Amino acid sequence: MNTLQVLGPTEPIISSKTVQTSTDFKYLEACIKEVLRLHPIASEMGRRTGDCPIELMGYYLPVHTILSASYRQLHRSPEHWPEPLRFWPERRLEDRPQHVPAPDIQSYYPFSAGKHSCIGKNFALAEIRMLTANMRSKFDFTEVVGQNVDYRQYITMQFEHGSWKTIFVPRYTSEFEQALGQMRVGSQWGLGKFEQLWGIHIHMCSPRSMGGGWIDYGSIWALESR
Ligand code: HEM
Repeated sequence: MNTLQVLGPTEPIISSKTVQTSTDFKYLEACIKEVLRLHPIASEMGRRTGDCPIELMGYYLPVHTILSASYRQLHRSPEHWPEPLRFWPERRLEDRPQHVPAPDIQSYYPFSAGKHSCIGKNFALAEIRMLTANMRSKFDFTEVVGQNVDYRQYITMQFEHGSWKTIFVPRYTSEFEQALGQMRVGSQWGLGKFEQLWGIHIHMCSPRSMGGGWIDYGSIWALESR
């Protein structure tokens, strides 16, 4: 990922089409797919039987029975995904090394399948591509250590405690660009909205302050915006 070009805050926004088609972003694209395998946001498919009892794969299902099939379980099955808990984006590269197993795309349904599959799939992927490419080109991310990262299944998968704290460090170097970047993250991208949508807190931190932790004016700004 560090091979992604470094962009300053004034550079044009990278479009989702560019991410999808340019070889510069093929590893990012592979990461997106691998994240959706390990953490499918809608992790289960709930259905209800109709007015007639049915038999499905040897099971007798009475009328009006609620069923749930887990995409998460399928995506983590060693039968279909060797080393299933390993975050291994190389699986999704066309030119993957020989020892990396090919993806079993018949066992991959982050957007479900069939007539009730996700109608927002392409929109969602376009957003993810744009957001990750632009943020990753401008910032390095690290997680705040010592957090308890647990998940809970609600309608979608969520962080058990509601959030996951991340430190963003600008990749661009000039002080002017850093200041501009902090303003942008704060105002134009709309921190409050961002947190609401993605459930993450953003603490800015300039490389200069790395030694001293993340209490520089950037991080205080972000904390105040909550
Ligand atoms: C990463 C983002 C998203 C993921 C992983 C996702 C995943 C899914 C999944 C797995 C289903 C099927 C649930 C089932 O089989 O019961 C679904 C259904 C649906 N999704 Fe998404 N979705 C995403 C984003 C969106 C967006 C952005 C929209 C709208 C703009 C959207 C609209 C819908 C609708 C309307 C359905 C119901 C379709 C139906 O029942 O016929 N989704 N989504």
